[in-house]
Amino acid sequence: MYLLSKLRTASAVLKARIPGKVAVRHGGWVYRRPADDPPKYIYRVADFMGFLMWYWILYHVWHEPEHLVGHFPYPDPSKWTDAELGIPPDQSTLTIGSFDIDHLNNQKASNAKIVSQIVKVLRGFDIAVILDVRTADAINVVLQALNKNDKLSAPQVRAFPDVNNKFECDPYAVLFHTTHSVVSSFVVVGVHLRPKKTLEEMNNLVKVYDDMAAALHTQNVLFAGDFKADCTHMTEAQFKNSSLVTDHRFTFLIDMNVDTTASDNTNCAYDRFVVAGRELTAAVVQGSARVINLSKALHLTTDEAEAVSDHYPIEMKIH
Ligand SMILES: *[C@@H]1O[C@H](CO)[C@@H](O)[C@H](O)[C@H]1NC(C)=O
Ligand SMILES: *[C@@H]1O[C@H](CO)[C@@H](O)[C@H](O)[C@H]1NC(C)=O
Repeated sequence: MYLLSKLRTASAVLKARIPGKVAVRHGGWVYRRPADDPPKYIYRVADFMGFLMWYWILYHVWHEPEHLVGHFPYPDPSKWTDAELGIPPDQSTLTIGSFDIDHLNNQKASNAKIVSQIVKVLRGFDIAVILDVRTADAINVVLQALNKNDKLSAPQVRAFPDVNNKFECDPYAVLFHTTHSVVSSFVVVGVHLRPKKTLEEMNNLVKVYDDMAAALHTQNVLFAGDFKADCTHMTEAQFKNSSLVTDHRFTFLIDMNVDTTASDNTNCAYDRFVVAGRELTAAVVQGSARVINLSKALHLTTDEAEAVSDHYPIEMKIH
């Protein structure tokens, strides 16, 4: 009953508006009636919105037509690099070695047998830190015999600016770029510490790190070389108290109990790797850092091995 009365009012309203506007059939009943015209400002707002939309569309069609027609010149997929295509490197690890070739002078380099043994060792490394090189001629003989292709480029080198003469042999750094490792850019610093000032020089390597990291713009730094940090040159207590050990940015990869000397009478961990930087430290292949027993690897007697060097080479791998 209520609904009916409502309907009746509605039809009364409609009837009231009918004249002149709506066709009426048989009087009274109206099928529908047109909406009232909206206020003027609604037209203006609608025009403005339309203007904005077309402006936006035409502006972009004019200024960024590649949305519609594509990019030219069309990219050539054969030129895309492995990195762009997300293809992992052919070899997933890089081997880094350090070899103190005791007194590598012209006389030693003229011994073809020794050079061939050195070359055999170096062939196993993608990066090698070579220490105790006495002449440029001598190392050139070795490098020519080695004749190895690079997986890396070395865009920058840097000698530590040792203004206060803290080091006998100034640490020397090479910045490497590579696509063969998960770390695309890292620094290797060759280290050869002085026997009588071993602890002092080792503590100063922290300063060397800060200098190299700032100058070469990477935290990823590997120290490699002859640290002399064992036996008569450094006690275990001194080692544990040295800045390079107490500073947690650094990780030693060759333990105190490893023997990197060729002689059967000595047992000293002179040659070491020390790694810093989150990415480089994480990239080190677990357990890969080791000493290469030259006698065993090249089937040499102890005397023959000692003729090559009083040190054994050390190596490590990074992913
Ligand atoms: C440890 O090193 C600090 C500074 O490097 C030195 O002052 C301290 O005497 C050393 N302690 C020992 C037991 O060698
Ligand atoms: C190296 O290997 C040889 C031969 O296997 C062995 O006699 C010698 O003790 C080893 N040296 C070290 C330092 O392990």
